[in-house]
Amino acid sequence: MSATILVTGGAGFIGSNFVLSERSQKRCIVNLDLLTYAGNPLNLRELNGDPDHIFVKGDIGDRRLVQKLLTDYQPDAVVNFAAESHVDRSIDSPESFIQTNIVGTYHLLEEARAYWKSLPPGRREGFRFLHVSTDEVYGSLGPADPAFTENTPYAPNSPYSASKAGSDHLVRAYYHTFGLPTIITNCSNNYGPRQFPEKLTPLILLNAIEGKPLPVYGDGLNIRDWLYVADHCEALRVVLEKGKPGETYNIGGSCEKTNIEIVEALCALLDEMAPESRYAPHRSLITFVKDRPGHDRRYAVDCSRIERELGWRAKETFESGLRKTIRWYLDNREWVESIKSGAYRDWIAKQYGR
Ligand code: NAD
Ligand code: DAU
Repeated sequence: MSATILVTGGAGFIGSNFVLSERSQKRCIVNLDLLTYAGNPLNLRELNGDPDHIFVKGDIGDRRLVQKLLTDYQPDAVVNFAAESHVDRSIDSPESFIQTNIVGTYHLLEEARAYWKSLPPGRREGFRFLHVSTDEVYGSLGPADPAFTENTPYAPNSPYSASKAGSDHLVRAYYHTFGLPTIITNCSNNYGPRQFPEKLTPLILLNAIEGKPLPVYGDGLNIRDWLYVADHCEALRVVLEKGKPGETYNIGGSCEKTNIEIVEALCALLDEMAPESRYAPHRSLITFVKDRPGHDRRYAVDCSRIERELGWRAKETFESGLRKTIRWYLDNREWVESIKSGAYRDWIAKQYGR
């Protein structure tokens, strides 16, 4: 297993959970993150003073910087989390999605390829470029359709998923054309600590804690497949250790829920875990709002391949994962307050009205 990993986007939600978990396994981490609105140094505060976590603020599209980090730290793997990740923002303004997710990934691939070619044979064989992607590249399922497999054709429907699909294609091409040992993972919806509260789970949770309306798009019956973030991080570790270059692995929770089920489950657990709240029963705050344009109806991930071939299995149940998530947000009010900058308030006002 890799001793030093160049992680990109390691100050965001999944990236920071991955960095913390890899540091607990003693892997050295070089963490390149642009610290956009979604990147938060507080996510990494437990690593303050840790000499084996090197944080560098910068862009994956900055070729000179990436080249320098690869030369200076000689990583055994690159794990690419860096991305613009929120579908609604991609509908509002797609450009940064194209820039980071496609162009940025291209620059990162080019530098990784040059570095990989310069490695001595033994190290070259072991090198991995792991690209963290999404199930959204496969498009939308009907109610009776089988879950996405690794062979499902790509059919992205939003600027976000189209930009992730573009990056996946480039990563695949760098394996086939240049032999760069790349692996792609396509994962379903994550939830857990440190998720920016523009996404469904933390948005609903924080609004409920504060007695604000809980916005549910359309009829609330869109389906997502939910996975606790620590299970995703564990899957990525297994893929780095045992995954085959040139391959794709789907990752999911085998946990399909409608959005309204998610919101109701969060409300019920919050009623129980915050009994002092003056807003209970929190479900009374649920408000149906205008639907997302082009809203994908259903995602479901068939992750039998990673289970069968690499021996990974999600550990957390939906309820145990949600409980841990709610506990974290209740206990980390300082983090929550730090998030509520002007930029966050502006986005919420723009998206949901004042
Ligand atoms: P996030 O938005 O929370 O974090 C993204 C991070 O990338 C931030 O720290 C941001 O500062 C950084 N970043 C953005 N542009 C950058 C650039 N040009 N250079 C360097 N850093 C940059 O996202 P997330 O939810 O943690 O998702 C991480 C990855 O996993 C993304 O690639 C996303 O597509 C994928 N993914 C997410 C989910 C999910 O449910 N959240 C599911 C499957 C796949
Ligand atoms: O499937 C993996 C993807 O999951 C990742 O690739 C994305 O980065 C991640 O953001 C997530 O995308 P979604 O669009 O599925 O997540 P989001 O939390 O934005 O929305 C989840 C569902 O909840 C979706 O059907 C839209 C709905 N929703 C969302 C928000 C923010 C609401 O009903 N109300 C809301 O306010």
